[in-house]
Amino acid sequence: AATVRTSGGRFVFDELTSGIDHTHHVAPGYTADILVRWGDPITPGAPAFDVFNQSATAQLQQFGYNNDYVGFVQLDETGNRGLLCVNHEYTNEEMMFPNLGRQDRADFAAMTRALVDIEMAAHGGSVVEITKSDDGAWAVNLGSPLNRRISPLNTEMAIGGPAAGHPRMRTDADPSGTRVIGTLNNCAGGMTPWGTWLMAEENFHGYFWTDELDWDGDPDLSEQPHADSLKRYGIPGRWYAWGKVHDRFNLDRTPHEPNRFGWVVEVDPQDPQAMPVKHTALGRFSHEGADPIVAKSGHLVVYMGDDARFEYVYKYVSNGVITDDSTPSSDLLSDGVLHVARFEANGDLNWLPLVFGEGPLTPDNGFDSQADVLIDTRLAADALRATPMDRPEDVGPRSDGRAFVMLTNNSRRKPDQVDAANPRAKSKFGHIIEIAESGGDHAARQGRWSILVKCGDPGVASVGAEWHPDTSENGWFGSPDNCAIDAEGRLWIATDQGSKWHRTGKADGLYGVETDGAMRGRSKLFFRAPVGAEVAGPCFTPDIETLFVSVQHPGTDGTTSLKGFERVSTFDDPATRWPDFAPDMPPRPSVVVVRKIGGGKIGE
Ligand code: FEO
Ligand code: CA
Ligand code: CA
Ligand code: CA
Repeated sequence: AATVRTSGGRFVFDELTSGIDHTHHVAPGYTADILVRWGDPITPGAPAFDVFNQSATAQLQQFGYNNDYVGFVQLDETGNRGLLCVNHEYTNEEMMFPNLGRQDRADFAAMTRALVDIEMAAHGGSVVEITKSDDGAWAVNLGSPLNRRISPLNTEMAIGGPAAGHPRMRTDADPSGTRVIGTLNNCAGGMTPWGTWLMAEENFHGYFWTDELDWDGDPDLSEQPHADSLKRYGIPGRWYAWGKVHDRFNLDRTPHEPNRFGWVVEVDPQDPQAMPVKHTALGRFSHEGADPIVAKSGHLVVYMGDDARFEYVYKYVSNGVITDDSTPSSDLLSDGVLHVARFEANGDLNWLPLVFGEGPLTPDNGFDSQADVLIDTRLAADALRATPMDRPEDVGPRSDGRAFVMLTNNSRRKPDQVDAANPRAKSKFGHIIEIAESGGDHAARQGRWSILVKCGDPGVASVGAEWHPDTSENGWFGSPDNCAIDAEGRLWIATDQGSKWHRTGKADGLYGVETDGAMRGRSKLFFRAPVGAEVAGPCFTPDIETLFVSVQHPGTDGTTSLKGFERVSTFDDPATRWPDFAPDMPPRPSVVVVRKIGGGKIGE
């Protein structure tokens, strides 16, 4: 067997041992502490969390559920004060509510209006001010006037950009088509150069309902205008009971409401009075994230994945260039061109503009305006013959004109659908593509692409994994999801295997992956989650001395607890009660803060 060398490369830490158990672990020499959990009070006067006595009112003052993206805004020059901007993607009712008596996710009988409203209050986002003490420990500043919750229950948002006000965006409650309550399924995101937070709306289709079902029990869309659009987006998904108690989530009563979700939302975390804006110029799809970077040419560029099987990779390029006084009200996110990627077999990358009137995006093909192109981004990208990918998750741009695309897996790709950029049928473990834009300019219309790694166990030939040979048994992974590029340009990757961690025997984790030089493609395990959780939102402070990671949905995916909702919902037998480990507390999604013991930069 080859000797495994662990020296060399830019990730200098003793690798963590892979595996899976009830708690989280970090590489030797580091601490990983709980910073904030679902239910923790975050606003002055917020009630203490009581899992047996929840209410929407209380939840709106407490940290939300299933933390995903984490962004950091440094508030002063010491670096000891900052804002965390955290997405709360979705809820697991079977874990949240004791004695729900729910047998599976399709059983909505137990979901009352009060429980639905708690779920809605637990979605959205949190802004929390945190401060670092002299000993380096971070804590939530409960008294900060900047702490706030954003939710689909009661946060009013503006709709901006080319689709704002279009008839398809109007509802009885909002005849202007420019105001919407709340945001849904915010997965990953990004921070703009001017310090605002982009919350990406991902699986919004799952929240919509219909009472009109066909013989097979599937939604009957025959009476719906734009049925092709609804089908293309999987609306109504009927994942949640919200549409049973709130008319706006019921397609039969509010047919245009789904058009008002699936966008990227901009929030100014330093101004709690500022109304968030949904920027329609960035397209409508299951946005995994929205990670901005300033191109060499000065344009603002936002890379985005549409996380579903055979969906596309997108890039928005502003028409204007950034200036010192670019602000949330500047038009850099509302006036620009959305592009979709075509990965050519010869390694060329073409970015195809989604512009009304150009190419097939004309009335002959059902597009009557730029608003139509954006509301039906997926249909427009189909018409342009973009490359259908293996579930594009995060896309991490780097200042050198490169970007890294996480392609998490795709169980449905058939052998005759394999192509150069998606090289494995039934891809169980996913792969990562590196983009190098022409001239190192993120605003370029062309670039080159290559595969950085093919994920999975390199020791099993049939998997077809490709890593740098120095990658250890601990270092390989499957299902890349979120990524972060630290201030020194190093690539960190978090995984989300869903229930399929049985295939790897590894908990989801955070890995450092080399991108350059002789060590390119070598991966090392740095942090791992408790059973049933995914790792999301890796976020470094600018000095790289603190790392925030989201531990999302602990105790759920693929755990024994999921085999008996009823038992879990009484908290008798969860596979983990992380992080409280208390008999009367379910597992709680939490943000973890990682530091080097004794201080210093992480990973070096
Ligand atoms: Fe919400 Fe694509 O993960
Ligand atoms: Ca997630
Ligand atoms: Ca994700
Ligand atoms: Ca995922």
